[in-house]
Amino acid sequence: MARATLIDGKAFAAGLRGRIGALAAAFAQVTGRRPGLAVVLVGEDPASQVYVGAKARACEEAGIASFEHRLSAGTSEAELLALIERLNRDDAVDGILVQMPLPGGLDEQAVIAAISPDKDVDGFHVINAGRLSVGQPGFVPCTPLGCIMLLKDRLGDLSGLEAVVIGRSNIVGKPMAQLLVEANATVTVAHSRTRNLAEVVRRADIVVAAVGRPEMVRADWIKPGASVIDVGINRLPPEEGKEKGRLVGDVAFAEVSAVAGAITPVPGGVGPMTIAVLLRNTLVAAHGHAGLELPEDI
Ligand code: GUN
Repeated sequence: MARATLIDGKAFAAGLRGRIGALAAAFAQVTGRRPGLAVVLVGEDPASQVYVGAKARACEEAGIASFEHRLSAGTSEAELLALIERLNRDDAVDGILVQMPLPGGLDEQAVIAAISPDKDVDGFHVINAGRLSVGQPGFVPCTPLGCIMLLKDRLGDLSGLEAVVIGRSNIVGKPMAQLLVEANATVTVAHSRTRNLAEVVRRADIVVAAVGRPEMVRADWIKPGASVIDVGINRLPPEEGKEKGRLVGDVAFAEVSAVAGAITPVPGGVGPMTIAVLLRNTLVAAHGHAGLELPEDI
């Protein structure tokens, strides 16, 4: 049986990080400082700790200064907002990322609203969401931007292709749909209330799954030859005698690979792109703050 081509997000992200590293070094030569990213983590959520550690390491490898702020779970909203205010004014900080989810009692929307839109490298601020929706330049959330890079790399021009995005979150589904429309695809956003989901997905030349349900997308949902982007990262319950369960996406990888034309693996697909795009957005922010043009579009 034909097998789908693997879309190697890990390799693509490594290439992107290499280009970012070269451009960050050139930036430091010209300005006398490295681009800087502040990462704020509130509380001790283990997955968030892993992500924040990975972001800090990736920054250092790319020649981007990383400023980590780890705050206790009991931090008040006023304290967190005061820190963001300080980071907004700090000239060494080009990008600010507050790791989500925040512990209960902290209002995520209020925290996002406090970040200067010009330092909002997550693209979560309503100003940046608005810019994306009207087609103005701004920061785009890292995961969907990484997905569209992989799709354009694989397919070239997306004009006229049928795309189905499964999931309507502010972080992935909605911005993904807007990026696909911007690229001239015909886009459907499916979600938990969509009727006949399998039938809807079968129309798609491009499927982006971002629902957080392990292996939900099955082989018989996929049009032969479609490109499948799996944003999900779900840990299954551990098997007998194992400490940790397997990581799987929202797509049943083995069976879908037999039908799709191309597919991202989990891990090693979309995940590495998210961090690489975060570095890219930070580099773009740094150039904006320094009044410099980026020498190439990355
Ligand atoms: N939590 C999960 N993904 C993300 C992300 O891309 N950015 C932030 N700030 N928090 C997250």
